[in-house]
Amino acid sequence: MNEILNLNNVSKIYEGKVPTIALNNINFFMEKGSFVGIMGPSGSGKTTLLNIISTIDYPSSGEIFVNNKNPYKLSYKNLSLFRRRELGFVFQDFNLISTLTLGENILLPLILDGYSIKEMEKKLIEISQKLNIEDILHKKTFEVSGGQIQRAAIARAIIHSPSLLLADEPTGNLDSKSTKDVMELFESLNKKDNVTTLMVTHNPITASYCNRVIFIKDGELFNEIHRGESRHKFYQQIIDVLSFLGGDYNNDFLSIRPN
Ligand SMILES: Nc1ncnc2c1ncn2[C@@H]1O[C@H](COP(=O)(O)OP(=O)(O)O)[C@@H](O)[C@H]1O
Ligand SMILES: [Mg+2]
Repeated sequence: MNEILNLNNVSKIYEGKVPTIALNNINFFMEKGSFVGIMGPSGSGKTTLLNIISTIDYPSSGEIFVNNKNPYKLSYKNLSLFRRRELGFVFQDFNLISTLTLGENILLPLILDGYSIKEMEKKLIEISQKLNIEDILHKKTFEVSGGQIQRAAIARAIIHSPSLLLADEPTGNLDSKSTKDVMELFESLNKKDNVTTLMVTHNPITASYCNRVIFIKDGELFNEIHRGESRHKFYQQIIDVLSFLGGDYNNDFLSIRPN
C-alpha cells in the first residue's frame, strides 16, 4: 500500500495558564489517490491538524510522514523545499494576489522553483485546459467570480504535482452553484489524475464529494465513514453523524438537499 500521509500518535497541547489539548493521540493514514474530508464541531482541532500536516505548526508529540518523509526531521532549507514540492494548499479566502493575473498567480510555485519560461508556459496551458480556465488566465481576481478564482487557486495548488493537496474550507466563501462547480473539479482531479486530497469542511454537501470522511471531536477521532456509489446516500450519512456529534453546525446545512 502506498501511504501518502501517516500520523503516528500525534498530540498537540497549547501551553498557557490552562493548557489546551487540541489533539490527543491521533493515528491516521491516507493512501495515495484518496480523497478525505475532516469534519467536527468548532474547536475540535481541525485547523490544528491541518496546520501540523502542512508544517505551519509542530506537534507536541508523535510523528508525521508525508510521502514517507518526516518534515520535522528536515533542515530548514529542506523543509521549505518539502513544502513547495510535496504540498499544495487551497484556502477558504483564495489567497491569490490581486495585482497579478490569474495566470501569473498559477505560475508562482514554478517561478519559486526556478522553472524555465518554456516549461512554465507548457504547464500553464496543460493545467488551464484541464481546469477549463484558459479564457480567464489574463484576468485579475476582481474581474471573475468566486468559483473561477477558486479554480485558479486549485490550479496553482497542483501545478507542481504535489504528493498531497490540502484544502481548508475551500467552499466556505462560495455560493451553492460555485460550490458544486469547485467540488466537481476536486472530484475529477482525484478520480482522473489521482490527486490525493485532504480537506477540512463544515459543509456536508462539500464533504459528500470525498471518498472518506473523518469526524473529530475534542481532539480525538470520533468516527469515520466511507462513500459507496451514491453521493446522496453519503450526504445523508454525513448529516446523521453530524446530528449525533452536535456542536455548532449551521442549521441551514441540515435542511439543504444536495443537488
Ligand atoms: N494558538 C493557540 N493557542 C491556544 N489555544 C489554541 C490555539 N489554536 C487553537 N487553540 C485551541 O485548540 C482547540 C482546537 O482549535 P482548532 O484546531 O482551531 O479547532 P477547529 O479548527 O476545529 O475549530 C480549541 O480549544 C482552541 O481554542
Ligand atoms: Mg478551524
